[in-house]
Amino acid sequence: MTKSFLGIDIGGSGIKGALVDLERGDFATDRLRIPTPMKSTPGKIAQVVSRIVNSFAPQLDPATPIGITVPAVVTHGKTRTAANIDKSWINAEAENIFKAKLGREVVLVNDADAAGVAEQHYGAARDCDGLVVVTTLGTGIGSAMIFRGILIPNTEFGHLELDGAVAEKQASANAKAENKLSYSEYIPRLQRYYSHLERLFWPDLFVVGGGISRSSSKFLPKLKLSAPIVPAQLRNKAGIIGAAYLASLR
Ligand code: BGC
Repeated sequence: MTKSFLGIDIGGSGIKGALVDLERGDFATDRLRIPTPMKSTPGKIAQVVSRIVNSFAPQLDPATPIGITVPAVVTHGKTRTAANIDKSWINAEAENIFKAKLGREVVLVNDADAAGVAEQHYGAARDCDGLVVVTTLGTGIGSAMIFRGILIPNTEFGHLELDGAVAEKQASANAKAENKLSYSEYIPRLQRYYSHLERLFWPDLFVVGGGISRSSSKFLPKLKLSAPIVPAQLRNKAGIIGAAYLASLR
């Protein structure tokens, strides 16, 4: 039997977990989702994560680490930023907070890094052995850069400057919704964003995820870039699958 790992994805509205079959790169169980608490401090989130872990505990080897994603820069287990989450995550010893609450090993990673790794191993970038840039268009813009399977973590390409502002404020799915942009108004922003990324990094492949990628046929074919730009394949499973995969490497 293949060993399963638990992946947990912490998002702005829900905290989701599932056991992952790493051979297939898919969920081995149904996903459990619990709404994110209102004041989403690391301590409060750890309580919800603990409920999720407990519900899968009978199927989990106590020695296996749990993979957890957060929408923040993570270096050496510490969360360093909080662009779209409670400010108490800035410089929090988040991995240790989770470890103490769960009484087990934890691997904490940036949400887009986890999604990117999953797309590289099991999804849209599976056959690319060059440089892949994965972006997630959601509340913010998350990014992952992977070269021949190796993740360069915490790239934060959503925080590049675009037209005098932070790129995610201009070109995320949220920016489209908040500014009530039609696709014909949104596409030029995406074009400037991806052209900028291309001039800086020259990837072999762009992969675009986030909820809006479900409608990718409305905008991706309109973008003119040297590298192919394709929709993510694992959709909202990518964070959980990538977190579990990264936990299995520890
Ligand atoms: C954060 C990133 C995160 C992205 C997607 C950005 O605002 O800075 O760390 O990956 O949102 O959630």
